[in-house]
Amino acid sequence: MELLRVEDYDALSRAAANRVGRLIASRPGAVLGLPTGETPLGMYRELVGRVREGRLDVSAAIAFSLDEFHGLPPEHPASFCSFLRRHFFEPAGIPPSRTRCLCGDAPDPEAECAVHEAAIAAAGGIDLQVLGIGRNGHIGYNEPGTPFSSRAHVAPLAPETREAAAAAFGAFELVPLRGVTLGIQSILAARQVMLLASGAEKAGAVKAALRGPVTPEVPASALQGHPALTVVVDAAAAALL
Ligand code: PGA
Repeated sequence: MELLRVEDYDALSRAAANRVGRLIASRPGAVLGLPTGETPLGMYRELVGRVREGRLDVSAAIAFSLDEFHGLPPEHPASFCSFLRRHFFEPAGIPPSRTRCLCGDAPDPEAECAVHEAAIAAAGGIDLQVLGIGRNGHIGYNEPGTPFSSRAHVAPLAPETREAAAAAFGAFELVPLRGVTLGIQSILAARQVMLLASGAEKAGAVKAALRGPVTPEVPASALQGHPALTVVVDAAAAALL
């Protein structure tokens, strides 16, 4: 594992963008697995800035989303699909034909999961999976207790996860009860994984994930077994390491 401790969120965003940029420089058609959330937002801003300045070209990359709210249509403003389009795919110039988002309102969600996995396999597998981490140690919507053998699936959301999403929906009760997510096995299949964590509220999860026992109770602890893991943490998130 490569552990990059940086000062603050801006430095984390730059370090994460550097890693993506290096991959794209060496392999323009690289396959990216991409998360949503507050944590990667700065990385996307940084990457888009580099594209606008002509320092980076991601237009040949292929991108797959990590997770989605179950029941939400892709065009819903709170969907992860619209997040990725708005904050990265469109401003960075990755054409829709080179992106695939898990569809939250697919009539058969399990079939949708299988299609997503098959599309990733057809693209040659994920070169770099970027991840945030939940305060409870989740990665994607793999909540505590998810088997490490899981592939893409429909997953119940933990109350704390729904709580964290309440603002986007206006109220806790309006947050979907379930998510659709790549599984832990799907994530571990990526050739490189980069976990990002920022802020004191993530410090406990980061410690449990990196220093604690490898257990399904801390889904991110599964990453300890990944041969090419980079962890980028700011000072606050690294405080308990
Ligand atoms: P956040 O979400 O980046 O918005 O904190 C991370 C996660 O829950 O995986």
